[in-house]
Amino acid sequence: MKNLSLSAVLACLLIPTLALSQSKVADVKVRENFWYKNSVIYNLEVGVFKDSDGDGRGDFNGLIQKLDYLKKLGIDAIWLAPFQPSPGEDDGYDVADFYGVDEKLGTSGDFVEFMHQANKRGIKVIMDLVINHTSDQHPWFKKSRESKTSKYRDWYVWSKERPKDADKGMVFPGVQKEVWTIDKKTNEYYYHRFYDFQPDLNFSNPEVMQESQRIIGYWLNQGIAGFRLDAVPFIIEVPKTGSKKPKLDFDFLTDMRQFAQSRKADAAILGEANVMPEENQNYFGKNGEGIQMMFNFYANQHLFYALATGDLKPFTTAIEQTKKIPEASQWAHFLRNHDEIDLGRLTEKQRNEVYRKFGPDTTMQLYDRGIRRRLAPMLGNNRKHIELAYSLLYSLPGAPVIRYGEELGMGDDLNLKERISVRTPMQWTDEKNAGFTTADTAFRPVINKGDYGFQRLNVAVQTRDQSSLLNWNARMIKLRKSCPEIGLGDYTLLNAGSPDILAIRYDYNGQSLLIVHNFSDKPRKASVASGKSKVLYDLMTDPQDQKPEAGKFKLSLEGYGYKWFRLDHIIP
Ligand code: NOJ
Repeated sequence: MKNLSLSAVLACLLIPTLALSQSKVADVKVRENFWYKNSVIYNLEVGVFKDSDGDGRGDFNGLIQKLDYLKKLGIDAIWLAPFQPSPGEDDGYDVADFYGVDEKLGTSGDFVEFMHQANKRGIKVIMDLVINHTSDQHPWFKKSRESKTSKYRDWYVWSKERPKDADKGMVFPGVQKEVWTIDKKTNEYYYHRFYDFQPDLNFSNPEVMQESQRIIGYWLNQGIAGFRLDAVPFIIEVPKTGSKKPKLDFDFLTDMRQFAQSRKADAAILGEANVMPEENQNYFGKNGEGIQMMFNFYANQHLFYALATGDLKPFTTAIEQTKKIPEASQWAHFLRNHDEIDLGRLTEKQRNEVYRKFGPDTTMQLYDRGIRRRLAPMLGNNRKHIELAYSLLYSLPGAPVIRYGEELGMGDDLNLKERISVRTPMQWTDEKNAGFTTADTAFRPVINKGDYGFQRLNVAVQTRDQSSLLNWNARMIKLRKSCPEIGLGDYTLLNAGSPDILAIRYDYNGQSLLIVHNFSDKPRKASVASGKSKVLYDLMTDPQDQKPEAGKFKLSLEGYGYKWFRLDHIIP
């Protein structure tokens, strides 16, 4: 264990809920200790959520005004996209001061008030932790590039020569040209896995390690419940050479998690690591001693393939392949996020099928691997298909993460560059600029025409309409929260007698669920072995019990239909 202070080590040893010992505890109830296991997480960017002062950009005070909306929706945690001072060249993922609040979004006081108001409503807050790199405007980088003898020189990754693979390994191919860029002042090359204005920090340097712990400690002290750790595989590439098969330092993740928990026992880290199933264990740690949560990118891409083609097999295989995780660990499932849908893990043939269905125009595609659209437009605004996708999200084994605006079925703006297409302002009302701002012009255009225009699609309209997607989502979140088996239990994919139907059974602590989804747009019949169960209770429609016939539960599902059942016992 490197660079961990003695006090941190001692604190870790003393904290009883630490996951290091969890795998030895047989009692399943232990899983309930971990808040993130069953949380519904809502991701938003402060700048596009709600403007309180009429300057055209969202801010923390605006977000405070909308906390009751989020509470009513039923979410447990907010994941805040980067809000620290930043030139904003990568929408905040280019941080220029890790210890501040971007003045465009409010003051540090506003942030503290926001934290207070969120916590008062029982909403936890996790934040993006973007420490793989800084902005090139960060004072550390400015000093680093100043001279070869600067104290900060070694905080970044420099090379005297241009490495031979300088034009390989780009995260944003087509936009980014290289990962090593010459810096005129000292005539050396600096490494940047992402854009050239995002120089990578050098985690081989113990001072950088220590500084990252300070950042974590600082924000935990401000009330943050955990972090969405950006670009994990690139942070732990030590040393950073940009090679194809880099050495990854997984102990780094254990150290980071232990440090975080030494400051706040239940602090959680949710990692952004789009990796193959066989690599997951390294990130979670064999006994759950790594980061607690990871986004299931692998399942996500195969789910989009299933939604596009109706072919479920690769998705069910992905769910099986990502099944074995330590007791204290958890998957975060999502449909859309703030980036493109990354389809890089699909075969070329599969990817092309998803492109054909969901992103046929090249303007919809990005970085040779993804689609920069929101869900509703991809699904042709087909309400049944959208519900299928979200019902599935709420019922997948893990914690669901919703992107702001998805609860309304918001659209995208392909005129905006790269991934900004899916980051347009939240649509609150049919007033000017969607009620997002009272300014004449929002800093980023609001979607203002067609089916997705704010005139038709907004929170106010959908709040009043019981059948709206918003109210449907609120009901589904409520349902999900009445089904703790999903986040805590063990699951089995069942044969439903139809290739179009996904049937999943959860068992936890003597309670069981059966959830079925029909990926075909045509009605389908399913039959699922009842095992020892004697009755199915439908959790969505009027009370209807169902008894097995010849050892099977017989089900009918409409096109894109879905049903949630509890087996044997109904929980009052
Ligand atoms: C991953 C984030 O999801 C993306 O939005 C960002 O551009 C890069 N990391 C760089 O921080």
